[in-house]
Order: sequence, then C-alpha cells, then structure tokens
Amino acid sequence: MDDFSDRTAVVTGSAGGIGLAIASALVDAGATVVLADLQGAAAERAAAELSSRGPGRAIGVRCDVTSESDIAAVTTAATDNGGLDFWVNNAGFTRDKTMRNMSLDDFRAVIDVHLVGGWLGTRAAAEIMCEQRRGAIVNISSIAAKVGNPGQTNYAAAKAGLIGLTKAAAKELGRYDVRVNAVQPGLIGTAMIEALKPEVLQAKLQDIPLERVGTPSEVADTVLFLLSERAAYLTGAVIQISGGRHM
Ligand SMILES: NC(=O)c1ccc[n+]([C@@H]2O[C@H](COP(=O)([O-])OP(=O)(O)OC[C@H]3O[C@@H](n4cnc5c(N)ncnc54)[C@H](O)[C@@H]3O)[C@@H](O)[C@H]2O)c1
Repeated sequence: MDDFSDRTAVVTGSAGGIGLAIASALVDAGATVVLADLQGAAAERAAAELSSRGPGRAIGVRCDVTSESDIAAVTTAATDNGGLDFWVNNAGFTRDKTMRNMSLDDFRAVIDVHLVGGWLGTRAAAEIMCEQRRGAIVNISSIAAKVGNPGQTNYAAAKAGLIGLTKAAAKELGRYDVRVNAVQPGLIGTAMIEALKPEVLQAKLQDIPLERVGTPSEVADTVLFLLSERAAYLTGAVIQISGGRHM
C-alpha cells in the first residue's frame, strides 16, 4: 500500500459514494484528507469516523464547488492542516431529462457542478502545487463523456469538458511537476445509480463484459494509483473503469 502519511489531500463531494471511498482509501494510506461537500454535516460526520479509524485523519468542510470563495476556504483548510499534495474533483449530480424536457437551468446546473467546479478546484490546487513544484490532480469524468447517453446532454457535455480541461491543465502544469489525470467510471454502485429505472439498469448490465456493477473502492484504487509516485510519468491520461463496458 502507498504511504501517504506526509501528504494532504482535498476530495470534493466526499460525504458519500465514490468521493468517500477515495477519502477513506487515502486515510488508510496515512494521508490527511479534507472532505469538501455541499452536505457539510455529513462531511463532518464522515470525517470524524475516518479520523477515529486512522491511521490518517480527516476534516469535514461544507463547500459548494461552484463557489470560488468556498473553494478558497477548502484550500486554506488543507494548507492549515499540512499542505496540499493531492486534489480530486469528484463532486457532482445528475439531472437527466431529454432535451425536450430539459430547461436551461438543468443544463447549466450540471455544467456548473462538474465542469466549472472542476476548473475552480484545478485552478486553486495548481496555484499552490506549482509553487511547491509537486502535486497531483485527478478529475472524475464518466464514460458518458465518451459515448453520450440519451437524457444526459448536460452530463455528457460536462464530463467531456472535464477531459479537455484535464489535458489542457496537464500541458500547462507539467513543467512544474504537477500531474493532472482523469478517470471515467462506468456503472458504480452508489446513490447516483439508484436513480436509474430497473429496466435501464438491467440493459446496462448486459453491456458489461465483467457482468457486474463496479464498487466505489475499485474507483478509489485507480485514483490512488494516479495520485501516487507509481504514476510519476502519467499526466493527461484518461483511465476507464467500466468492467469493459464501452471499451
Ligand atoms: N456512480 C456512478 O455510476 C458514476 C459513474 C461515472 C461517474 N460518476 C461520477 O463520480 C462522482 C461521484 O458520484 P457518486 O456516484 O459517488 O455520487 P453521490 O451522489 O453518491 O456523491 C456525490 C457527492 O457530491 C456532493 N455534491 C453535489 N453537488 C455538490 C456541490 N455543488 N459542491 C460540493 N459537493 C457536491 C453530494 O453532496 C454528494 O455527497 C460524480 O462526479 C459522478 O458524476 C459516477
């Protein structure tokens, strides 16, 4: 297992689901982790639970990733607690509707949380990481970015945008030894997929060579690899975690 005992990380959207699994794996590896989530009380509860287990520790902070000042406060929470080595842009939600039913607000809200939030996080992390000439950022995209899904014009656009952001930022920050990579999960067992209709879930399962939904901790394993020195020569990479779906 990686030893991150002298490392500090920010994981957005980490009160539950994939973000919590990433935060939990980082705490297992000894890191100090800031759990930044819109659900502040849930983030604080999760952080207290992770800290009591150790060996790393966690701090829960209420944060709306679309707010520049909230992102600045999260950055300060990290630097006040040791520094800023890793940043994971994970926060998000879906608002699936066909275009016929999707309002401009539905479109903008999803672009805002995934893409604008991802850009604000990447920019804030880069400012500190470039100065210290060390750091790694991981953006949580989706295979929806690659293949599109009906009812997800907002989500697919946001997640595809995140890939462009990842590659452009990787090119800008490489000279400072700051790496920026992305993962594209497929169907992962979290609250987000509970919103799927049973027949839609069944159809998706038939499309997965490994014939099952993935777990949040399987996504966390890949994210930790990308953050670690084992991935020292990886930047601008996009790793699909989909059980082979849409390979
Ligand atoms: N579950 C999947 O199958 C799947 C597949 C591909 C990609 N993803 C992506 O993985 C990430 C995590 O998804 P999940 O399934 O764990 O979802 P989840 O709903 O379990 O967790 C998302 C978290 O983000 C938080 N959040 C929402 N808006 C926020 C905001 N404005 N600021 C801060 N926090 C906010 C929520 O409070 C929640 O805790 C998302 O970016 C999602 O698009 C998920």
